[in-house]
Amino acid sequence: MNSKDRFSEQQKAKVREIEEILKTFLPKEEGYQKIIMEAMEYSLLAGGKRLRPMLMQETYLLFSGGVKRKEDADALHSFMAAQEMIHTYSLVHDDLPAMDNDDYRRGRKTTHVVYGEDMGILAGDALLNYAFETAALAFEDRTADAAKVGRALGILSRKAGIYGMIGGQVIDVKETGHEVSGDMLDTIYKLKTSALIESSMMIGAVLGGAEDADVKAVERIAGNVGHAFQIQDDILDVTGQEEALGKPVHSDEKNKKTTYVTLCGISEAKRIVEEKSREAISGLKDLPGVNEYLEQLLLYLINRER
Ligand code: IPE
Ligand code: IPE
Ligand code: MG
Ligand code: MG
Ligand code: MG
Repeated sequence: MNSKDRFSEQQKAKVREIEEILKTFLPKEEGYQKIIMEAMEYSLLAGGKRLRPMLMQETYLLFSGGVKRKEDADALHSFMAAQEMIHTYSLVHDDLPAMDNDDYRRGRKTTHVVYGEDMGILAGDALLNYAFETAALAFEDRTADAAKVGRALGILSRKAGIYGMIGGQVIDVKETGHEVSGDMLDTIYKLKTSALIESSMMIGAVLGGAEDADVKAVERIAGNVGHAFQIQDDILDVTGQEEALGKPVHSDEKNKKTTYVTLCGISEAKRIVEEKSREAISGLKDLPGVNEYLEQLLLYLINRER
C-alpha cells in the first residue's frame, strides 16, 4: 500500500471511530418533543468529514503521546462530540432560507427542508445547547482534571460566539451583496471558519497537557488551517462536484457573496490555500511532540475535493 492509500484507510477508520463516539452522546428519541431528537440525529449523523473532532483528537495525541486513563478519554470524547454538534448547528442555520437558503447538505436534503423551517431553527438551537450539556459531562466524572476541563469549556464557548463563529456569520450575512475589502473578508473567515478549528485544536492541546505558550502556537496554526479551509471551500463552490461535496455548488454566486475566488481568482486562491497550509505544517514541526497523521491530514486538505 502506498502512503496515500495508507492515509486514506487511516482517515476512514478515524471517521468511523468518531461517528461511534457521536452516537454514544445522542439523546434518546422519546417524549412529546422527540421530533427534535430525530432532527438532531438527522443532521449530525449525515456524512460530514468530521474534521473538527479529528483535529481535536490528533492535537490531543500530539501533546499527550496517547490516551493514558479512561477518564481522560471520556473527557476528550465529550468535547469532540460537543464540537461537532456546534459545527453541525452552524451548518443547519447557515442553510436556512434567511441565510444561504440551501436545500442540500452532507448528501441529504437540509434539515429545514425535511423537518420544516421551525424545526430547522429549533434543531440548531437544540444542538448548540446539547453541545454544552455534553461537554459539561466531563465535569461529572470527578476524576477528570477539572482545571483542564474548565479551560476547554471556556475555549469552546468563546470560539463559537460573537467573538468567534457567530460574529463571522453576522458580518458575512450583513455584507452580502455589498463590496467587501480583503481585510474584511479575512476577518469574516477568521471568525466564521477559523474560530471553530482553533477551538478544536486548542481544546485538544489543553486536554493533552500543553503549556500555555504551546496552546497559543496551536491557535496560530489552526488559524491558518481554518483560513485555507474556507478558501478551498470557496474554490470548491465554483469548481467542485455536487455529489462529492454533498452540498450545492454555486451557492456563493447565487447569494452574491464576495469570496477569495471573486476577489483574487481561482489560481491565486489556490496558491494562498497552499501557502497557509504549509505555514500551518511548519508551525506543527516547532511543537514539542510529533503526530505524522496530523501533518498528512493538513497536506490532504490542500487538494481536498469534498
Ligand atoms: C463546511 O464545513 C462549512 C465551512 C466552514 C466551510 P465542512 O466542509 O467541514 O462540512 P462537513 O462537516 O464536512 O459537512
Ligand atoms: C459557512 O460558510 C461557515 C459556517 C460557519 C457555517 P459557507 O456558507 O461558505 O459554508 P457552506 O459552503 O454552506 O458549507
Ligand atoms: Mg454561509
Ligand atoms: Mg453556506
Ligand atoms: Mg461555502
